[in-house]
Amino acid sequence: NLTDEQLQSEILRLKQEKNAVILAHYYQEWKIQEIADYVGDSLGLSQQAAMTNADVIVFAGVHFMAETAKILSPQKKVLLPDLEAGCSLADSCPTEAFQQFKDAHPGHVVVSYVNCTAEIKALSDIICTSSNAKKIIDSIPVDTPIIFAPDVNLGRYLKKVTGRDLVLWDGACIVHDSFSLDKIQALQTQHPDAKILAHPECSHAILEIADYVDSTANMLDYSQKNAASTFIVVTEEGILHQMRKASPEKLFLPAPLVTYTECACGECPYMRINTLEKLYLCLLREDPAIELPEELRLKALAPIQRMLELS
Ligand code: 13P
Ligand code: SF4
Repeated sequence: NLTDEQLQSEILRLKQEKNAVILAHYYQEWKIQEIADYVGDSLGLSQQAAMTNADVIVFAGVHFMAETAKILSPQKKVLLPDLEAGCSLADSCPTEAFQQFKDAHPGHVVVSYVNCTAEIKALSDIICTSSNAKKIIDSIPVDTPIIFAPDVNLGRYLKKVTGRDLVLWDGACIVHDSFSLDKIQALQTQHPDAKILAHPECSHAILEIADYVDSTANMLDYSQKNAASTFIVVTEEGILHQMRKASPEKLFLPAPLVTYTECACGECPYMRINTLEKLYLCLLREDPAIELPEELRLKALAPIQRMLELS
């Protein structure tokens, strides 16, 4: 039974010993963020995974993120502290049903948000993340019809900002779909000068009242550069750690959810499956590791590479 401090120092020791790198998403608990070599959004994490010289990548994030790292760096061992760390959005797009959806819309270019399985990536022409989605859609000739999957909220947002008529898969994230418009507006009444920062996975009504809509990394950047002293942050609460660290003089308020039954607060139940202890054990045992068939890996790699070339 090691304390958190002991776990942190053991992780750092093992990391050196095994030439491992820890890549963490902003939605991880802050104790994990603090020992990571790199903390970032989905795009930054995939770029890091593609360029690292480490022998082992410990992915403190969810399964599709670690899988993307393995697709990009097959010769490296990619560890995920708990294979159960999935994603409701990725789960909302099963392979067979998506194949049928694709067949029903022939001639469409398929743009998939990175929050999907390797099988869905393999059925896609190009991948995007929340920070490059507009740029990716804009890169496709205007007369080419597009399917966008799996997030319907991001899809609707992209229709608005690109002016394109996208065919949308009806998937969503349980966390971003649970923020309450009424409660956010009530919170803003108490803090009239607060800026609302929202992730594009949030519902249309919330994006309409947001002052800024973008990826986690860009929300963090905005919170540092914007002159406001109070921000209502409508995304997973883990990002508040970096916002408060970067701007300790500012007030960051987590956005309230519609119901408190699904999860106690704006924490992603999948992201929070990872713990310091599981991270320590997976690095010690080099297990669980991400593996995927080479044929699938190559099919999923091509659309990710197209994204990275455009980013
Ligand atoms: P970002 O790429 O903006 O960090 O988003 C990742 C994610 O899972 C959002 O729910
Ligand atoms: Fe998936 Fe939502 Fe969790 Fe992001 S916050 S990993 S989209 S379930």
